[in-house]
Amino acid sequence: MNILITGGNGFIGSHTIISLREHYPHARLVIADNLTNSTLETFTNLKKLVKEGIEFYNINICNEEEVATLFINYSFNAVIHFAGLKAVGESVEKPLKYYRNNLISTLNLVKYCLIYDVGKFVFSSSATVYGNGESPFIESHSLLPTSNPYGETKAICERILIDVANTNPEFCVSILRYFNPIGAHESGLIGEAPNGIPNNLMPYITKVAKGELETLHVFGNGYPTIDGTGVRDYIHIMDLADGHVAALVNLKPGVNIYNLGTGNGTSVLQLIDTFEKVNGVKIPYKIVNPRSGDLATIYADARKAERELNWNAKRSIEDMCRDAWNFAKNTVTI
Ligand code: NAD
Ligand code: UD1
Repeated sequence: MNILITGGNGFIGSHTIISLREHYPHARLVIADNLTNSTLETFTNLKKLVKEGIEFYNINICNEEEVATLFINYSFNAVIHFAGLKAVGESVEKPLKYYRNNLISTLNLVKYCLIYDVGKFVFSSSATVYGNGESPFIESHSLLPTSNPYGETKAICERILIDVANTNPEFCVSILRYFNPIGAHESGLIGEAPNGIPNNLMPYITKVAKGELETLHVFGNGYPTIDGTGVRDYIHIMDLADGHVAALVNLKPGVNIYNLGTGNGTSVLQLIDTFEKVNGVKIPYKIVNPRSGDLATIYADARKAERELNWNAKRSIEDMCRDAWNFAKNTVTI
């Protein structure tokens, strides 16, 4: 079995490769990543964990010739498409960059899957496609406009995949809508290490814990939630990774859409509290104004994946906080 993993050097892709190796010990795992948001250090560490049958190509998936060459050289059985740009704020500043990268990469891959009869496709979507809706989000909800170009790229890619699968019954697609992945592989060798000042909560917390940033800014405490701070469905990155294997193993004809979340919400203050208790470190924080575009509460209805993929998230918020810190405390970031 040959599996193409675009963006496989990134946060979610690299952890998924570990789950893929455990489930498919003899598969050839081919990463195509242009290192736009990752470094080769991740691949070096991934090789320590996965050892054999893993190959890396520095390829931009938007470059059709490079994609064509890859499909000619390998007879892929499946594609997992992680490659994408994901910073919401940047997508508002530079919409064309996001539309170009996230749409053209998907169009190229789908085209070559059809040409070379690759009938298994797993796509990284996001809870963001539910827009300004009401939690728990369920896959059958109709999608509302998202508040930013990043979210729109995910919604449009979903549409493209549905349309293509409609006229090509041999093209089977699993669309995975992720909630908030955090944590790291238990080895501490790979994890989430964004450059610069992080946008997302957990990488910000670990930088404060390391003393690289002074204070965490909590974006608002006036929401209608348990303690007034935003509530999210945090999911351990290794549970999310296992969700991809479950999606591939249980892939059905047509397009099937699954939420990958835990079904539970945790507030910002609850996450800080758990992080401090589990790791024995202090996270100084101050309450600031809400971040524009944030919703009060986002969590999944995760029952469809449990029913159809026989998958559910097993790790706790404590596990997520411990593993995130285990990775971050030893990692030198820029
Ligand atoms: P990431 O930035 O860590 O990984 C993405 C990888 O794709 C990076 O290594 C980057 O270098 C690569 N890449 C980007 N554009 C490319 C291109 N044109 N050609 C080749 N490689 C390219 O992000 P992640 O957190 O691992 O996210 C993976 C996917 O999941 C993305 O599509 C993202 O939008 C989606 N997603 C992420 C989250 C999240 O919270 N992390 C939530 C929902 C959806
Ligand atoms: C954000 C994106 C979402 C994307 C996801 C993963 C927005 C509006 N949404 O989700 O589209 O899929 O990241 O990349 O940007 N918080 C703080 N202080 C911080 C950072 C965050 O209080 O420094 C709060 C937020 O207000 C929110 C929670 O922590 O309540 C989680 O935030 P974050 O980690 O950025 O994820 P989302 O906003 O859910």
